[in-house]
Amino acid sequence: MPRPIEALIHADALTHNLARARAPAPDARIWAVVKANAYGHGIERVFDALRAADGFALLDLDEAQRLRALGWRGPILLLEGVFEPRDLELCSRLNLWHAVHCTEQIDWLSRHKTHQPHRVFLKMNSGMNRLGFTPTTFRSAWARLNALPQVDEISLMTHFSDADSAVGIAHQVAAFERATQDLPGERSLSNSAALLRHAGVRTDWVRAGILLYGSAPDAPEHDLLHWGLQPTLTLRSRLIGLQTLQPGDSVGYGSRFTASEAMRIGIVACGYADAYPRHAGSGTPVLVDGVRCATLGRVSMDMLAVDLRPVPAAGMGSEVTLWGRGPQGSVLPIDLVAQAAGTVGYELMCALAPRVPVVMA
Ligand SMILES: Cc1ncc(COP(=O)(O)O)c(C=O)c1O
Repeated sequence: MPRPIEALIHADALTHNLARARAPAPDARIWAVVKANAYGHGIERVFDALRAADGFALLDLDEAQRLRALGWRGPILLLEGVFEPRDLELCSRLNLWHAVHCTEQIDWLSRHKTHQPHRVFLKMNSGMNRLGFTPTTFRSAWARLNALPQVDEISLMTHFSDADSAVGIAHQVAAFERATQDLPGERSLSNSAALLRHAGVRTDWVRAGILLYGSAPDAPEHDLLHWGLQPTLTLRSRLIGLQTLQPGDSVGYGSRFTASEAMRIGIVACGYADAYPRHAGSGTPVLVDGVRCATLGRVSMDMLAVDLRPVPAAGMGSEVTLWGRGPQGSVLPIDLVAQAAGTVGYELMCALAPRVPVVMA
């Protein structure tokens, strides 16, 4: 028998979350962001559930090829554009739209031989200082692109650094609008957090990532239920060991938890080599048979310990939900586990280990 751990992908939840993404901006088209192998879910696994999206946005040419191989004929956007000149050949061949964020990419495009002019998304650095032309260099980049026979249509994009917090997006929207007000072309501004928290932004294309995968972009301020989202990824396992501790007994490497009373604990077949964050300390929420319990001590490579006091009936083989959907309609948001580990839901889902079998629920 294999180790009892498995990951479940909930296709119905992906479809639900995509529909949820449409509500705040009903006139906008939606890029389903599927970079990082669909945030760890697997592009092939999410494709059917997300095919009502207007396009797919990602980074890797390999992932773009996989989408075309699945039969997707609609728009695909390379969010970081091409990484070297020859990538443009694949863009021409597969009709990939691509971001243009630096002068080198314009130079490459100007030397690219193609009968198929490209749709590009010119990216502005409106304050995040990651990729893009500054507001002062944006217009000359646009003019250069506009003069190229290799370019068909130019759309305008920027990315927000603080859409998930009180800092907000007003300063970046203002910078973007000042520099683009008389430029033609479709706009793509909002990510998940901007879409949910700043619904009034003028954006023709929304780039929805994390919300599709059932994680609140602004956790812990809000959780997935607040935004009407459903978990799309469940990590579940079973109890493979039981111990009864006496006062003074400790648990796991480094003896990080010491019992102050007699208590029963369970050992779960899940560790950091499966994706569970090692930095999640004692007290991280976990469901045993759908009942909220807490982890104890350090997470090991293949195991972790849970306090069974809230669920006395639990025993060998009891179902343990590390995050996602538990039995009897219970839910443990991935964001709660992420928070306990000092990280975000994005990181946990992207880290799902290859050794964990994945099934479609
Ligand atoms: C340029 C760009 N657009 C959109 C997204 C999607 O963001 P989110 O997953 O927060 O919706 C990302 C993700 O990092 C991104 O880099």
